Amino acid sequence: MPVVVEPHDQSVAALLPLLPAGSQVVGSPAPLAGWLDRHPDEYVVVVGPGVDLETALTVSQDLRTARPTVSVVLVVGRVDTAVLVRAMKAGARDVVALGDTAAFTAAVRQAYDTSEALRGPSGARHVGRLITVFSPKGGVGKTTVAVNLALALSEGGARRVCLVDLDLAFGDVAITMQLSPTHTIEQAIGSEVSLDLATVEGLLTRHEGSLMVLAAPLHPDVRERVTPALVVTVLRTLKESFDFVVVDTPPSLDDQILTALDETDECIVVAGLDVPTLKNVKVALETLDVLNIARGHRHLVLNRADEAVGIDVDRVQTILQMPVSAQLPSSLAVAAATNSGTPILAREPGHPVSQAVRRLAASLSGVTVAPPTSTDRRHAAPAPRARRRMFGRGRRETA
Ligand SMILES: Nc1ncnc2c1ncn2[C@@H]1O[C@H](COP(=O)(O)OP(=O)(O)OP(=O)(O)O)[C@@H](O)[C@H]1O
Ligand SMILES: [Mg+2]
Repeated sequence: MPVVVEPHDQSVAALLPLLPAGSQVVGSPAPLAGWLDRHPDEYVVVVGPGVDLETALTVSQDLRTARPTVSVVLVVGRVDTAVLVRAMKAGARDVVALGDTAAFTAAVRQAYDTSEALRGPSGARHVGRLITVFSPKGGVGKTTVAVNLALALSEGGARRVCLVDLDLAFGDVAITMQLSPTHTIEQAIGSEVSLDLATVEGLLTRHEGSLMVLAAPLHPDVRERVTPALVVTVLRTLKESFDFVVVDTPPSLDDQILTALDETDECIVVAGLDVPTLKNVKVALETLDVLNIARGHRHLVLNRADEAVGIDVDRVQTILQMPVSAQLPSSLAVAAATNSGTPILAREPGHPVSQAVRRLAASLSGVTVAPPTSTDRRHAAPAPRARRRMFGRGRRETA
């Protein structure tokens, strides 16, 4: 959490509201070293206008070598070239004028990004994996896959999993899991820069066990106020705390979803055995290619894969030019599970759909799945074989 060095209350009152909740204030540089020792994740020290320039430059110079992942942002009464040059020479990340809110929040954001980049993917910070479940077609089974995949990943309780409903207008994750969220992403609107882990965790609703859910807003019009920047901040923050963040999406590639896909580590593409869906999925995959999104990290899930509708799995693989990673058979039990508010994986753990989703979860997390029990074998599943509102044709676009 950012730490502010500033002796005067008035400047503290101007700066603190612009920083994440939990940010600290110290009256002078003296306690700074102790603070940083106790907070190895620290990414920014803000030196306020009440600290004289020479002292501020010394702080910056010291931290440049002692703690390269911690940036120094100097806040001064007035920015002039002489101060800028000296600050940059001392290794400060930025110099901003007191009252220039936009410059200040941008500098803090940049400090965070720099720290992340310096720590690298294997740095001290925890980094979970983001899995986005996507399809340009409505009703194809995205939510069913996302919910059951999140449950499968959290089975056993060893992994912390968060399921995020990014179907911001019509999300139905909560109802599918019989949850009554009191908070959603709506409460984070406007906090793009200042959002921290504790705040994001406060927006989550607990499902049984180690699965948490970030529910969609309760009213469709809220979607317009959720900015792509907020989506990025929320997803990155969740990755700091959870081993897996599974994202459910609407049937459209709007700005928020493109942003999530840009952030994603693995992309699950859900398709069915009908020509319109396959055509739309093919166009969507080509678009992801153009945008260089999740190349080499896409997994095709064929839902209702056993329906005799004149197209088989081989044909799907030929049309989409990618292997099918998982096949989920059609079953009334899946729809019944959705309607009962207990997803199929929890309601019928041995069901072929549950088993197929569990295998998918295992392949994504690199874990071997135990063979089915004799009860499970009754259901033996078929073996799996080997930027801008581009898709407004989802069945429920509100824009
Ligand atoms: N394999 C299956 N067999 C039977 N019913 C299924 C299967 N998969 C999904 N369903 C049912 O189809 C309906 C739509 O599924 P789901 O909500 O997962 O689709 P979606 O792609 O998320 O839809 P939307 O685009 O509206 O968000 C649900 O009632 C679900 O229970
Ligand atoms: Mg859905």
